[in-house]
Amino acid sequence: MSKITAAITAVGAYVPEFVLSNKVLETMVDTNDEWITTRTGIKERRILKEEGKGTSYLAIKAAQNLLEKKQLDPKEIDLVIVATATPDMPVASTAVYVASQIGATNAFAYDLQAACSSFLYGLSTATSYIESGRYKKVLLIGADKMSSIIDYTDRATCIIFGDGAGATLLEPNTEGLGFQDEFLRSDGAGREFLKIEAGGSILPPNEETVKNKQHFVHQDGRTVFKFAVSNMAGVCEEIMKRNNLTHEDVSWLVPHQANLRIIDATANRMGLEEAKVLKNIHRYGNTTSATLPLLLSDFEGQLKKGDNLIFAAFGGGFTWGSIYLKWAYNS
Ligand SMILES: CC(C)(COP(=O)(O)OP(=O)(O)OC[C@H]1O[C@@H](n2cnc3c(N)ncnc32)[C@H](O)[C@@H]1OP(=O)(O)O)[C@@H](O)C(=O)NCCC(=O)NCCS
Repeated sequence: MSKITAAITAVGAYVPEFVLSNKVLETMVDTNDEWITTRTGIKERRILKEEGKGTSYLAIKAAQNLLEKKQLDPKEIDLVIVATATPDMPVASTAVYVASQIGATNAFAYDLQAACSSFLYGLSTATSYIESGRYKKVLLIGADKMSSIIDYTDRATCIIFGDGAGATLLEPNTEGLGFQDEFLRSDGAGREFLKIEAGGSILPPNEETVKNKQHFVHQDGRTVFKFAVSNMAGVCEEIMKRNNLTHEDVSWLVPHQANLRIIDATANRMGLEEAKVLKNIHRYGNTTSATLPLLLSDFEGQLKKGDNLIFAAFGGGFTWGSIYLKWAYNS
């Protein structure tokens, strides 16, 4: 029997309707469109405005989009993983609610958190379940309502992040397509530079923490940028070397959308021409766990069976890595 690999066999996505443009941000904080565009590449981002709706709302919509496109009965799904840094609530699990709402009544479900690398790490987890033969259909969703943890008076963070969700279905493949290799890293020294200080077990929320805005994301952007550039490029080089891939062999770079300059620096180190680099940061900003599946959804029509994809991400923690995958279908 030929070896089982795990392939992505369907994608879906959802972004909220409300568009927060650079022009509108100019009226909220001391910034301007030119600064944001040249420093980050972002022009606008989507925000989930409706009260009472959380990350699960985005995840459910993305999953339903996938189910409809694939014409898949949700009862066939074995496992639902929601990769997210903004769960609906600390307890209970967002994924469990999502699974119930989409009718995946035969699945078990849980959340996976690794900041901006959540989806990438989730891809590692989901593919391992498939390769082991234990499960046949794993729904991996990357979803974040970043607007729920952003201080819209802090120009260092509010210009960067947006809300969105993307869903992927992982299934066994016996043609050698799908997951090929991974190189995942982490370094706890990074937690000083990108974090939400309060609301966890070290500093439970209280009046003081709210007053000090410690329940929002704070980052030392310059330090995060430096680490992101060198580490994202480093793992991409490494995975190419390990798999004897030249820049000509790589069909697409699927990079986390944090900053256009980080993406370009990674592509340059890999020797990739611009046309091979998937980007939609100008439309959505950094949607954290949703960036990679949103790219797959936006560019699905261009991906061809057998194409070599290199996924790369970098996030808080620090967490980072790359995954090499062969695309498994023509849409
Ligand atoms: C946040 C980020 C865009 C800032 O860009 P930068 O080129 O590093 O800018 P700096 O922080 O060095 O700031 C440069 C100047 O612009 C100012 N500035 C910061 N934010 C600004 C804004 N939104 N508008 C206008 N000016 C701004 C700073 O105050 C600073 O002014 P100064 O030189 O007078 O002190 C960039 O560091 C970044 O993208 N970092 C990585 C963030 C990231 O990826 N986070 C998620 C992890 S996946």
